[in-house]
Amino acid sequence: MIPCQRHLFDIPEDVAYLNCAYMSPLMKSVRDAGHMGIQRKVQPWSVSPPDFFSESETVRGQFARLVNAGADDVALVPAVSYGIATAALNLPVSAGSRILTLEEQFPSNIYTWRELAKETGAEVISLARPDDDDWTAAILAAIDERVAIAALPHCHWTDGAVIDLEAVGAALRSVGAALVLDLTQSLGALPFDAQAIQPDFAICATYKWLLGPYSTGFMYVAPKHQDGKPLEQNWIARLNSENFAGLVDYQDAYQPGARRYDVGERSNFALLPMASAALAQLLDWGPENIQATLAATTAAMADRAAATGLTSVAADKRAGHFLGLRFAGGVPEGLPERLAAQNILVSVRGSSMRVTPHLYNNQNDVDRLFTVLEAL
Ligand SMILES: Cc1ncc(COP(=O)(O)O)c(C=O)c1O
Repeated sequence: MIPCQRHLFDIPEDVAYLNCAYMSPLMKSVRDAGHMGIQRKVQPWSVSPPDFFSESETVRGQFARLVNAGADDVALVPAVSYGIATAALNLPVSAGSRILTLEEQFPSNIYTWRELAKETGAEVISLARPDDDDWTAAILAAIDERVAIAALPHCHWTDGAVIDLEAVGAALRSVGAALVLDLTQSLGALPFDAQAIQPDFAICATYKWLLGPYSTGFMYVAPKHQDGKPLEQNWIARLNSENFAGLVDYQDAYQPGARRYDVGERSNFALLPMASAALAQLLDWGPENIQATLAATTAAMADRAAATGLTSVAADKRAGHFLGLRFAGGVPEGLPERLAAQNILVSVRGSSMRVTPHLYNNQNDVDRLFTVLEAL
């Protein structure tokens, strides 16, 4: 169990921020790294050509450690939608084949597949939310030789219902289908092992559970897809781009591994040091320890919620960092606004009120939320 880490953040005592699934607050160290990065652009002579590469390689390596992969397997992307578009460009689908998704899945992992289906005659299947919240069983039951791609999260962004990706990955491989993952609502807080799960592509935005800045993200690319087609052609992804004087000796070859998929201007001097500082802290805490700590917090909240008549996904089917509270008759009108007026921050997605704590939360935050819910 990791003790409360609020001292690393700048969160006033009267703010109960239980909304990491919306956007994590930055640690002071991450803010300072960003300030340092901006200051370097104030005096650009302090930015040297090797900096365009070294910082990218540092974060690439840190992300690789987090997902148990190699730095060669990681591309730097600006958003989940960008990574999903890259995956769609590089995975074969034929007319009549199926792309599996979940009901109420996050739109950045939906729209590209709908476009691809329109272009190819494939069909996007939206699996209905199972009554028992067992998404794994529902997905396994839907996998057959018609499936070309399953585009999934690790846990559902509305209520934290978790998917056994190892089982799903194995079933997909047995019918020759690809697995594309959006890890934005899990990675950092929920352990993930690319060697065990073997996704084709796994993408994650940095501004939630990776505790980093907006407009940065990462994409794991399985080795078999590392010679594919990038969405765009940028100079730094080409071989020998380290030699600035020689950039006009145009190159057909790319930098090794997944680097060909890096977004243009990936060497962001303010954002990458921030992402790096956040990843360093996460690796130090360890996702297993973060998960165990947050699971204890949400389990206590789930019990207390149950005592007031609220329900949530059962602990064995829910990611420990995530609690979606369900009210008989739906989330009461105006409740999130009433909470926000008292500096208690949660969010409503679909039919659940998401309560998503992190290591900065303390018992006072939880008590303040339940004082309102219990009075209701
Ligand atoms: C599950 C999930 N994926 C992705 C995103 C962000 O997507 P993008 O990076 O395309 O803006 C969010 C934001 O709420 C999310 O909840």
